[in-house]
This record gives sequence, C-alpha cells and structure tokens, in this order.
Amino acid sequence: MSKNVVVIGTQWGDEGKGKIVDWLTDHAQGVVRFQGGHNAGHTLVIGQGASQREYKLNLVPSGIVREGVNCYIGNGVVLDAGHLLYEIDGLEKAGLEVRNRLKVSPGCPLILDYHVRLDKAREAARDPERKIGTTGKGIGPTYEDKVARRALRVYDLFYPERFAEKLREVLDYHNFVLTKYLNTDAVDYQAQLDSALSKAELLQPMVTDISAALYEANKAGHNLLFEGAQGTLLDVDHGTYPYVTSSNCISGQAAAGTGVGPGMLHYVLGITKAYTTRVGGGPFPSELDIESTDSPGFQMSDKGREIGTVTKRKRRCGWFDAAALRRSARINGLSGLCITKLDVLDGIQELNICTGYELDGKRVDMLPVGADDVARCKPVYETVPGWNENTFGVSRWEDLPANARHYLERLEALCEVPVDIVSTGPERDETIVRRHPFSL
Ligand code: IMP
Repeated sequence: MSKNVVVIGTQWGDEGKGKIVDWLTDHAQGVVRFQGGHNAGHTLVIGQGASQREYKLNLVPSGIVREGVNCYIGNGVVLDAGHLLYEIDGLEKAGLEVRNRLKVSPGCPLILDYHVRLDKAREAARDPERKIGTTGKGIGPTYEDKVARRALRVYDLFYPERFAEKLREVLDYHNFVLTKYLNTDAVDYQAQLDSALSKAELLQPMVTDISAALYEANKAGHNLLFEGAQGTLLDVDHGTYPYVTSSNCISGQAAAGTGVGPGMLHYVLGITKAYTTRVGGGPFPSELDIESTDSPGFQMSDKGREIGTVTKRKRRCGWFDAAALRRSARINGLSGLCITKLDVLDGIQELNICTGYELDGKRVDMLPVGADDVARCKPVYETVPGWNENTFGVSRWEDLPANARHYLERLEALCEVPVDIVSTGPERDETIVRRHPFSL
C-alpha cells in the first residue's frame, strides 16, 4: 500500500527540512509543496568529493534532484511564474531534467509585480518596532488577494481576454493603494499584462489537476512526501501573529493545499533544530545574545552558520524551547521528531531547555497564542550537562556521547513525541534513524 509522509518545520522555519526531505525521497516517488512560495529557501548538498553539487531551491520541491521522482506544486502555494521559470532554467543548466517531472496546480494564485511592490512599501511604512521583516517576495499581498477572491490564478493565464479584464480591475484597486496610500509608484497595466502572459506558454505543459494526479499516484502504489515550508510558529493562524507568514504551515495544510484527504496523511515528521532560531521580527522568549563571543548564542550563530537563505539576514538564536514545541506537536499531530544540527551544541558545558514561562506572575507550560502574550513570557529553564565530544557526522545512536543522548531523551519527554531521526550533518549518511517514517 502507498504511504504519505508530511514533513513540517516545528519552530520558526529553517529547521533543515530540505536535507531530510531529500533523504526521505529514497522511499518516495513524488514530492509535494502545499503552501508558501519562493520565500522558502534551502540548499541541498548532493554527492561526495569532486562530484559534489549544491542546489539552491525556493519553489521547486526538493525531489527534483532525484532522478525519476515527480514533483508537485499544490493549490496552496502562491506562484511567482517568473521565479519558477528562472529556477527551472538553473536546474536544467545543472543537467537535471525538470519539465516532464514537475506539475503545477491551475489553482495557484499568481504573485504579480504589484504584490511585491505592496509588500515592500508596507514594510517600509511600518513603525520600526512593528516591522514583520518579510522576505519582500509579495507573499502576504498575494494571499490577501486569494481570500478576497480577486486573485489571478495560474489557469487564468490561458484565457488572455479574461486575464486582461480581471487584471484591469485588480490593478485599479492596488494602484490606488500604492499611489494614494503608500505614496509609491503605480504598476503599469500593459507591462504587467505582457509580462504575465508571456509565461503562459512555458507553464502550460506543467499545469495539472494536482488533487487528481496525487490520487492516481497513490493508486499506482507511489509513496508521496509532503514538503512543508517555513514553520509552525510562523503559521498565520497558530503562530506568533502578526509576526508570521501569510500561509498555514502546519500538517493539516498538506491536505487543503493539495486536495488530498486528511485521512491519506499517514505520518507527520516534525523537523526541529537542537536549539531555536528565528529570522525577522517578533517575540522569541528563549533568545540569546549572538554578538558576544562568550555567549552560547554566538556559537549557535557562528558554528550553525545561521544566515537566512533568501534574505541573507543573520538569524536570531536561542535555547531549545520545549514549551513552544509542545504546542507545535499537538497542532501538527506529530508522529515523530527529527532533531537537526545537534553538533552545533558540541562543547557547550551546560545547556538550558525552556520548559515553560512565567506570564503575568503565573507559570504556563505551553507557548501562548499571539505575539503580545508571547512577548511578556519570561522563560523558565531546566539546565542539563553538555558534552565535549564531536557529534558531527555520527550515524548510530549508540555512538552519540551519553550526555547528547540524555539531552535528546529529555527533549523527547518534554515534547511528548519520540525522536525518530537525528541529523548530524548535511550529507545523506550523516543521519541516525531510530524509526523510519516510511516503514512504520
Ligand atoms: P513573508 O513570508 O515574506 O511574508 O515573511 C513573514 C515572516 O516569515 C518574516 O518574519 C520572515 O522572515 C518569515 N519567513 C518567511 N519565510 C521564511 C522561511 O522560509 N524561513 C524562515 N522564516 C521565514
């Protein structure tokens, strides 16, 4: 019987999902994106020595680097067609066959120039204290158009007259906001129309009813991997609102964002860094100083090379937050955890784990809903001993230092989810497997 596995980020994104999705693809015939857009970004390192290659992906599912694996972009994704074609070009130049393996939903809302302009102008106009720190890719304004029922979607591209008419209407509205409210330049109607329609012919062969295609794939016995982008704490409903992205990043979205029934999702793997990072604005209770060289936050930032893939901003770093993870575990119905970047903590003498908070004089053991309450949370820590040994590249649980195993077992107990996988380096074989998601 075919099996479907969902991989999601349990923190504020950048947990190292790309490597694990690639690693799991050995057992899957299809990889599916179901939310977000090209605000996501990851680097895949494939091969050893002279044949080693690095691939940077934003929109195309990671499965593309594996021969014969089909890749699907579901309706929940907002699509910048220009960026998609640019990414495909880059992959083809690297020798990969892409177009006959990549399928795009006709229902994806299109990211157009005015979305990008609105995103940047709004962010620039925001009070410095209230900046969200978006990636500036037009993600939020495109999702707004989707729920306002005025978005232009991929299939509109194949009806030029209707597209032109809808664009006229929506651009009138957005140009009014851009010029009269945000005091910036309008987007030229004809230039936008020509640029959008010029991509139709290139996209058309890839456009497929994704819900039907996934159903058929499962029927043919194919295993599928649903690749989440961003992370649970950036989810528009369940994250630290308003410091969130504009999509649902949780496992349930794998169903809504593709048209697959939730009963067809068999295992949910939560990717979790051994510590916590966040890029952009918003509260972060277990945050550490990353500038002083004697701070553990400096080691996390420096050794973990914590720089955003898309915006190149330094990521904020902090202790593992088990109270935030507890919320994540429940919302996503996690079957298991995959802990990444454990080696970054090697050599830190004592590790703190945030087990709850003090909020307005009361003890709480789960991250509250919404940014205002989270901002008032003071972390409560449990301290455990660190380890001096090197864990980089370790591939067997028994070979981990005893204190590293205790640390992981403590996280497992606090989050109430088994640690099924530990990733100890970027390479595929730098992975410890305790339970394999596809063989449960
Ligand atoms: P947006 O998704 O560009 O609207 O940005 C909203 C927030 O989500 C900002 O704080 C971004 O830094 C954050 N964000 C968006 N995508 C990612 C990601 O892939 N990793 C980490 N943070 C992200």
